[in-house]
Amino acid sequence: MLLRQVLFKIIIAKISLLLFHAPENIKFHILKRLQIMANNKIVNKRSQQFIEEVAFISGGSKGIGKETAKEIFNRGGSVCILARNEKELERSKREIESVRINKDQFVITMRGDASKKDEIQPLIEDFIRDYGVPDYLINAVGYAYPEYVQNYSLEDFKANMDVNYFGQLIPTMIFIQFFMREQKGHISFISSGAGFASGIGYATYSPTKFAIVGLAEVIRHELKPYNISISILYPPDTDTPGLKKENETKPKETAMISETFGLYKPDQVAVKYLNGIKNGKFYILFGDVLWVWRIFRLFPRLFHRYLDYELVRARKKIGKR
Ligand SMILES: NC(=O)c1ccc[n+]([C@@H]2O[C@H](COP(=O)([O-])OP(=O)(O)OC[C@H]3O[C@@H](n4cnc5c(N)ncnc54)[C@H](OP(=O)(O)O)[C@@H]3O)[C@@H](O)[C@H]2O)c1
Repeated sequence: MLLRQVLFKIIIAKISLLLFHAPENIKFHILKRLQIMANNKIVNKRSQQFIEEVAFISGGSKGIGKETAKEIFNRGGSVCILARNEKELERSKREIESVRINKDQFVITMRGDASKKDEIQPLIEDFIRDYGVPDYLINAVGYAYPEYVQNYSLEDFKANMDVNYFGQLIPTMIFIQFFMREQKGHISFISSGAGFASGIGYATYSPTKFAIVGLAEVIRHELKPYNISISILYPPDTDTPGLKKENETKPKETAMISETFGLYKPDQVAVKYLNGIKNGKFYILFGDVLWVWRIFRLFPRLFHRYLDYELVRARKKIGKR
């Protein structure tokens, strides 16, 4: 550490000396460049704000959705959060409002089921009539119910698709009409690492997360001429009520393999998520999911071998052959 500090000081001293003896025109160019770099940093920081912007967040009363709503509020934006449980919505509203930075910001709660178009369409239309077309739609609803594949019923597969895929598709279908009319808007989806590489325990969940990526890929292309941008978040394992529930039914092998990856806090995920959106990223990945993504894309066979090896190890540990 000390050596690094000494080296750093020597480098700074050398640059200052060079600058001191440099011809005037070179000095001018270097100083100009430094000024541009400093300005860019300030502009970048400013452009991460949500001042006077509005986001509609489905699944905004708990977990990643709630923390995302709170972070938008913290950066000066306003939010409308959709979820099914009224009490949770009210509790979240109070929590989000605790980080208010100006008096014009608002938090609207909307009780409804994102997978039921007839139920939420009139509510969203009322919201738009009162508050205008929002700048962002963030689709955060979703759950995982891990099990061994042979234990699922067909209903389990359909129910997971209903919430995770149709629950993100339906608000998107409703908002697309308004975004196209306004020629602006951002639609974000939440997938998962299991939306590109998956394994034991996620037979009902993974297909829903692959499906949402397929939809995002299509509309990223199709809606570009309308100035509508799209992003997909692939969160790492995040400590949310949803993950706690998921852990209750995880097959032992799934739990043992998951343990090799880190656990994030939802507020950390929200910050990375919103930075990704503001930086115009389509795929938003970080942490372990980013490494898995890179290895899986470059060396899929190697990744499968690793997963297979982990499964053999886990089965051995629990006494299965
Ligand atoms: N946590 C993780 O480790 C992790 C990892 C990868 C991906 N993800 C994905 O990230 C997203 C958020 O996960 P999370 O762990 O934050 O979930 P969570 O803690 O369970 O929160 C889910 C939120 O969605 C709402 N919701 C669920 N179903 C809904 C429906 N049909 N209509 C309206 N609202 C609904 C819930 O409120 P109500 O129940 O009151 O409706 C709640 O506000 C999900 O898509 C999940 O698959 C999570």
